[in-house]
Amino acid sequence: MAETTRHLTVRIKRFDPETDSAPHWEEYQVEAEPWDRVLDVIQKVKWTIDDGLALRRSCAHGVCGSDAMRINGRNQLACKVLVKNLPDNTIRVEPILGLPVIKDLVVDMKPFFDHYKSVMPFLVNDEPPPTTERLQSIAARARFDDTTKCILCACCTTACPPFWGDRKYVGPAAIVNAHRFIFDSRDRAAAERLEILNDAEGVWRCRTVFNCTEVCPREIKVTQAISEVKRALLTGDVGEIDASAETAAAAS
Ligand code: SF4
Ligand code: F3S
Ligand code: FES
Repeated sequence: MAETTRHLTVRIKRFDPETDSAPHWEEYQVEAEPWDRVLDVIQKVKWTIDDGLALRRSCAHGVCGSDAMRINGRNQLACKVLVKNLPDNTIRVEPILGLPVIKDLVVDMKPFFDHYKSVMPFLVNDEPPPTTERLQSIAARARFDDTTKCILCACCTTACPPFWGDRKYVGPAAIVNAHRFIFDSRDRAAAERLEILNDAEGVWRCRTVFNCTEVCPREIKVTQAISEVKRALLTGDVGEIDASAETAAAAS
């Protein structure tokens, strides 16, 4: 595709609960440069055509996770989709699925964060703290490295068909964040988290659809993380690493 200014037709699903009984599509014409991202295009609509358009964004650099939306039918961060990579000159933009729409592209993230909070996404260790930091070997750190990269954008959970059908399903993002602590050798609450996830609305609702992995903007192996939690539940083994060996490895 030539790197020239493109004339885009931008179709955005709009919904204002104060005036609309149902969502509808609006169409806008926008000139975009090849280096523009879809976020720039949507902001051009807001700043030059219709300032009533509601969207969420903050960092504009793929870090905060706040501008997840469905672009051409696929969950993505609008700030990470370059105009020059769009297959044609028409873009469809709509809110992520499965969460209540507050207005236009802004959804209510509370149900998503309630699921996240339900898995205890924080380090639990009541043992007396060591005089220096809690040491951890490179191997022990590597066990959960992938799941530390989550930015809680909700792309995965809102691309998951079982979640669309059952909002009580805790969802892949919550499981990713449980994984991050279950397999952390410094944590002492793995059993509690596994108990929470050992439920029809926990990991067993996952049908290995893989949409979550396909859309994760951080390229986290989401389905693999879920499988590791399932395996830990079946075997009762989180593969604890011998603490003394770990201390020696970290100190060497
Ligand atoms: Fe977003 Fe990936 Fe985290 Fe899911 S796992 S919330 S897609 S960063
Ligand atoms: Fe859903 Fe991902 Fe499982 S899309 S069904 S959580 S593999
Ligand atoms: Fe922060 Fe896109 S605006 S990730």
